[in-house]
Formats: sequence, C-alpha cells, structure tokens
Amino acid sequence: MDFQLKTLSIAQAAAEKADVLIVLVAPGSPEASDPLSQLAAAAVKAGDLPDKPEKPGKLLALYGQAGVAARRVLLVALGDGKPQAVRSAVAAAVGAAKASNPKRLVIAFAQAVEPAGLAAAVLAAADASYVYSASKSKAEPRSLRQVLVGVPEANALRPAFERASATVLGIELAKEWGNRPANYCTPSMLADAATELAKLPKLKVEVLGPKEVAKLGMGSFSAVAQGSSEPLRFIVLRYNGGPKDQAPVVLVGKGITFDTGGVSLKPAAEMDEMKFDMCGAASVLGVFRTLGELQPAVNVVGLVPSCENMNDGHAVKPGDVVTSMSGQTIEVLNTDAEGRLILCDALTYAKRFAPAAVIDIATLTGACVVALGNIRSGMFSADEALAGALEAAGEAAQDRCWRLPLDDDYAEGLKSNFADVANIAGRAGGAITAAKFLQRFTADYPWAHLDIAGTAWKSGAAKGSTGRPVGLLLEYILARAPAAAGGKAKGGKSRKARSAA
Ligand code: BES
Ligand code: MN
Ligand code: ZN
Repeated sequence: MDFQLKTLSIAQAAAEKADVLIVLVAPGSPEASDPLSQLAAAAVKAGDLPDKPEKPGKLLALYGQAGVAARRVLLVALGDGKPQAVRSAVAAAVGAAKASNPKRLVIAFAQAVEPAGLAAAVLAAADASYVYSASKSKAEPRSLRQVLVGVPEANALRPAFERASATVLGIELAKEWGNRPANYCTPSMLADAATELAKLPKLKVEVLGPKEVAKLGMGSFSAVAQGSSEPLRFIVLRYNGGPKDQAPVVLVGKGITFDTGGVSLKPAAEMDEMKFDMCGAASVLGVFRTLGELQPAVNVVGLVPSCENMNDGHAVKPGDVVTSMSGQTIEVLNTDAEGRLILCDALTYAKRFAPAAVIDIATLTGACVVALGNIRSGMFSADEALAGALEAAGEAAQDRCWRLPLDDDYAEGLKSNFADVANIAGRAGGAITAAKFLQRFTADYPWAHLDIAGTAWKSGAAKGSTGRPVGLLLEYILARAPAAAGGKAKGGKSRKARSAA
C-alpha cells in the first residue's frame, strides 16, 4: 500500500478525488470558512461530534456532499489529538471506511499534528486495512491501494512520515509470517523469507542447518528440534549501516513454528494458536525489512533459532539432560518450556558479535499473559540504561512494555539434582523464572528480554498477529542512529551534540 503526505487545507482535501475522505476534527480546531470546516464546527457545537477531548473515534458519516470530490465523508472526533487518540480515531474511521472497499483514502487533519501523531495515523490506517490472504483459495487482496494524509504543513513532518511508512512494511511482514499456519511457515520457509530479505541493501544472511548447529554445540536447541521431521534452521541476519567498529545491537527471536508442548503435550483447546509461537522471529524479520528500507547508520544482528516442538519417537523426554552451547547442562523437566531451550543457545552465540546490547523477543510464557494481559509486553533487564531505553521506545511507539523483576531469589526453583539447571521452576512467577533461566546465558553483554506471549497476537474473532513489538524495537534502534553516525569521527561530537551546540 502506498502512503503519501501533502500540505492540504480542509478545502483542498475536499477537492481531492478519493473513495472516502476522513476529516479528523479536534475540539477547538480553528474554524476555516470552507463548507466542510463549517459543517464540522456545527457538528461539534450541536454535540454530534463529541467536544470532549477524552472521546476520540466518534464518527459522523456524510454522503454525496456538495463541493466534496469524495462520495463518502467521515468526520471523526480526534479527542485530545495526542498519538493515542489519533490511533483510536484513525482505527475507527478506516475500520468504518473498509465497508465500501475503498481504493483511495484521504485522511485530513483539520489542525496541526505532532510527528508522533502523524506516525500514529499512518500505523493505524495500515493496521485497520491489513488483509491476510496466504492460505485462502479465493484470495481477496487488500482493496486499499493509496492513502493520502493531508496536514496543514507537511514539510516538518516528512521524516516522521517516511519512518512510519517504512515501519508499516516491517510490521506487515511480521504479521504476515505470524499469521501463516505452521504448514505455510516451517523453519525452512522462515529461512527462505530471511534470504529474500537479504537482497535489500546492506543486508546479509547466513542459514545454518542441523549439522552446523550440532557442530556449534547447541545441544539444547537441537534437543527441541529432534522430535520433528522438519529440520531446524538457525538464521543469522546482519544489517551493516554503521561504522565497522561500532558494536551491533543483537536481536534474538524465538522461532518455534509450532509448539505442541512435545511429550509434555498441551491441551487441545486453542492449540492452533501455537502457530504464533514464532512471532518473536517474525518481529526480527520485520525490523530488518524496515532497516533495509530506511538504511540508518546502525549495525544490527538478527538471530533466529527456528524449529517445531513436536512429539515423535526421537523427541526429548522429561528428565533428559542436554548440554547447551555454553557448556551448562540442563534438565528438561517440561518439554513445553522449549522456548528458553532454543534461546539459550542463540544467546550464547550472540557473544561473538561483541554486542552493545542483546534483546531477545519471545512468546515465552502463559504466565506473562496472566500478569500483564494483552496490553503491555513483559520486559526484563538488569541493565538500567537498556531497560529505560526500551520503556521509552515502547511509549514513543505506542507499543508499550512493563518491566518485571529479576531478583536472584526467583532462580531458586530452577535448581536441579541432575544438571546445572532445570528448565522450569514452580507455577508461581513463571514469566520471571523463565527470564532468570535465560539470564544465566547473558553474562557477557547488556541484555534485555521481551516476553510477548500476550501481545504478539489477538485471540477470538479478531484472531491474528499484531506485528508487535516491531514498532518498539525500531524506535529503540533508530534512536541510536544519530549517535552512531557521530561515532564515525573518533573523538568527535555526535550529530546530536553538534546540532545542540
Ligand atoms: N509458547 C508457550 C508460551 C505461551 C503459552 C504463549 C500460551 C502464549 C500463550 C511456551 O513455549 C510454553 O509452553 N510455556 C509454558 C512454560 C511452562 C511449561 C513452564 C507455559 O507458559 O505454560
Ligand atoms: Mn511450549
Ligand atoms: Zn513455545
């Protein structure tokens, strides 16, 4: 889908050819003298569009309005105009507009908008119009081809706009792979998708199979894969946009393409949703899609351990002890706690990049869903700066996370009589004990863990991948770009420092 940004008054927006014109109206917007602005002002005065800033998304539909090129017009209450309100308002409007299968939408802001608000509009319009089609026999393609966003003054908003439309590409790639059923998304297919991505500028990929992974000593990852006839893949993506000597950020995405639980079999209800157990991996691919588009001055490595968690005659059994790449032995007390078993070897592998930071992203625990629901991802880090940066990135991108603790006391339950560590502790604090398990493999670099079990997909009627936390991760990575560019000139000021001076 194509996004465009243009300076438009409401009168000019009314002259734009479109299937639907969406006008975002904030209470107290300056009243222009054109008919549409007057109409909007009258609707606010009459109470037909709420003038309360806390109520974004109320719609007023007009049809065949004289002097308006678009046949359908939606006046939409913008609430307080903050990014969160913009998101709700645009989601409601595009959701309603969808009924008429529009090809071209115009979304016009009646008043000035902040860069973050504009980005929210672009992301919400894309989200509300996304269509899944990979496994439908009569694929109905997305009807929406073009969205023109009109603002009172476009120039200052251009960088935010470019970034938001590139972010859409990453989020949609993550959604697409997340949504695919496990027979349309095997580890090999994920690796092929990564190989395809590596055609983008500054991107490289390496794909390892079972033999190479065994040779690296990844006995923990291999053990999870051994119960499936689909061969495992270990994907190594590299984006080199920064100076050679700049330490990269490493993203590690859990890529379980289907999680049956293994011998510790899951109950049947909702087991289909375990096709989403590779959403961490999909978010890593999504980030690289956007990096290839924006080409910022940063270095990023993406690591994706990918396999199925299945249950055949070769499957790992409760009580088996496996040896991880770190040398630590692990007693597999529950084969359904497989995510940490594949991640720990990838986290050990990450060390070779001498990373500035390592962030793993995983649909890791049902306990995290119990703790935080579907609103915020769980975030764990012993590094204050990294934790702060991720919190801030989540806020800025409206892709929020919440920090959970890592006290050593939580690791008590992971003790084993037969190995260095067990892969589960008791039921209590399950998201935290999982994080404590991972932490044992991250001593050599600043590390954070994002548990996206509650946020990566929606259940029920709107079942589908959300593309989270691509927005958060990109916000975090792109915030590092100016400093990275400045780092080129050794001892020189960063770009940020220069512009501040
Ligand atoms: N992929 C699941 C986590 C999950 C479960 C995410 C439900 C979203 C919804 C993970 O591999 C898993 O099975 N975790 C177990 C861990 C337990 C055995 C310690 C869990 O959460 O039940
Ligand atoms: Mn599991
Ligand atoms: Zn899992």
